Amino acid sequence: KKVKLQVPATVANLVCGFDILGMAIHEPYDEMEIKLLETPEIIIRHIDNFGLPEEPSKNVAGVVLLKIQEYLNLKNGFEVTINKKIKPGSGLGSSAASAAGAAVGANELLGNIFTDEELVYFAMFGEKLASGVKHADNIAPCIFGGITLVKSSNPVDIIPLSSPDLYVTAVHPQVEVKTSDARQILKKNILLKDAIEQWGNIAGLVAGIQKNDFQLIGRSLNDVIVEPIRSILIPKFNEIKEKSLELGALGGGISGSGPSIFMLSEKEEISQKIAEMMKSVYDEIDIESFVYVSKIN
Ligand code: HSE
Repeated sequence: KKVKLQVPATVANLVCGFDILGMAIHEPYDEMEIKLLETPEIIIRHIDNFGLPEEPSKNVAGVVLLKIQEYLNLKNGFEVTINKKIKPGSGLGSSAASAAGAAVGANELLGNIFTDEELVYFAMFGEKLASGVKHADNIAPCIFGGITLVKSSNPVDIIPLSSPDLYVTAVHPQVEVKTSDARQILKKNILLKDAIEQWGNIAGLVAGIQKNDFQLIGRSLNDVIVEPIRSILIPKFNEIKEKSLELGALGGGISGSGPSIFMLSEKEEISQKIAEMMKSVYDEIDIESFVYVSKIN
């Protein structure tokens, strides 16, 4: 038995919702093929050129499968072939895709024995390996689709939100930002006045998503806690954000822990113009970049 999956990229945080909000997008996506084996070994093969480790205990998909095997006391193993198209370290949920794909694929091969929330639970072990922290804000939208709220990750409590008909432009500049470093630099304490502003934005964003109110979504995409610190790691962040808004974006910010930047817009034409602008800003300073124009999945 085998399954083939297309596993979507995801944008975590959605600016103000650090570790709790995320959305799946149509492109890029990874391709995964998973086979059920009669013997207990786990075999991981990457047919991309990113040089990711293939030893199961060091591979994001591998640790998820090991966990499922252990939990079920399973006599079967899995053979996984991954063609990664979501670039590792992009901030577009590359590790989450491997982790979520492994959990979803194994579940299908085993006769759909787990709920989506249980799959999030298993997939979080992959995130722990990749970034040192079990966050679910990439995994949840990857598994549920659309936009999700991680109301709690322990116990796992995921609230799927509606998916507004919006375009997503993302740019991935070729600079290295490790999630673990991007978490390390954050302040451990925040001011009450900042917390009030932040939860106003999160509540506004969730209400905007549910009401399909694009203006409310736009004015809620503000982050007074994480973005001011992390944006220092991303060249031209402020310029790209300002120019995107001038071109008609509703709003946007850092995708996950960066270095990718994303913008939401109502019209495809605007999202294309933003993509061109993003590319030319990085071309000017000789930083290679990849741009994606996509929709919420
Ligand atoms: N919420 C996480 C962070 C996502 O911002 O660190 C990382 O992919």
